[in-house]
Amino acid sequence: MTDPRLAAKRDAALRAVDLVESGMIVGLGTGSTAALVVEEIAGRLASGELRDITGIPTSKATHQAAVLRGIPLTTLEEHPDVDLTIDGADEVDPDGNLIKGLGGALLREKIVAMASQRIAIVVDESKLVQRLGSRGPLPVEVVAFGAGAHAPAIRALGGEPVLRRDPDGSFFLSDEGHYILDCRFADGISDPAAVERTLRDRPGVVETGLFLDMRPEIIVGRAPDR
Ligand code: A5P
Repeated sequence: MTDPRLAAKRDAALRAVDLVESGMIVGLGTGSTAALVVEEIAGRLASGELRDITGIPTSKATHQAAVLRGIPLTTLEEHPDVDLTIDGADEVDPDGNLIKGLGGALLREKIVAMASQRIAIVVDESKLVQRLGSRGPLPVEVVAFGAGAHAPAIRALGGEPVLRRDPDGSFFLSDEGHYILDCRFADGISDPAAVERTLRDRPGVVETGLFLDMRPEIIVGRAPDR
């Protein structure tokens, strides 16, 4: 029997890939839903349904998956203008604001998103929230030096930070070699823009998982039999 959540993710991925046109530079997101996008683009390239697609991966993992599946890749140095980025998200609010970064790729994801003409976000309906931060933590990428010094400021914003660890207990390192503070907000984030401003103003904070005012197209996948 097909897992309904996987079926919903696949539905979102297929609908998002319908936005891809031959000749495009496509930002390739990170996570399990974005992986289905990579798979589908590779399949359409192999079948000839799509031609001349060049991808820009948002993580080492996606880079590896795209290479494995034969998707030609480029960089933002060669192509600073991305036609369309398709990525997943951890939370989506009713205004299309997002939390991203549970997969640890928020920094590269935000860089690619900011370079993109168009952004499509692929999620299943479990990611839809009324208020950001109500489903999971807000990931905040910080340099290692002084990582513990951000805690009082995060607590003053209503969050409780925990330094992310790998399963073996060592500190998780992002693709850019930074730490991630997963910040839980007991009642969600009431003013995401203020949290973003306050955190980004702090030396040592590299990026937050808040993707605000980017006006992405939200593609909510549904299991076919529902
Ligand atoms: C990666 O850093 C995240 O921003 C992902 O986009 C997010 O975790 C979504 O992943 P899933 O599609 O696996 O839920």
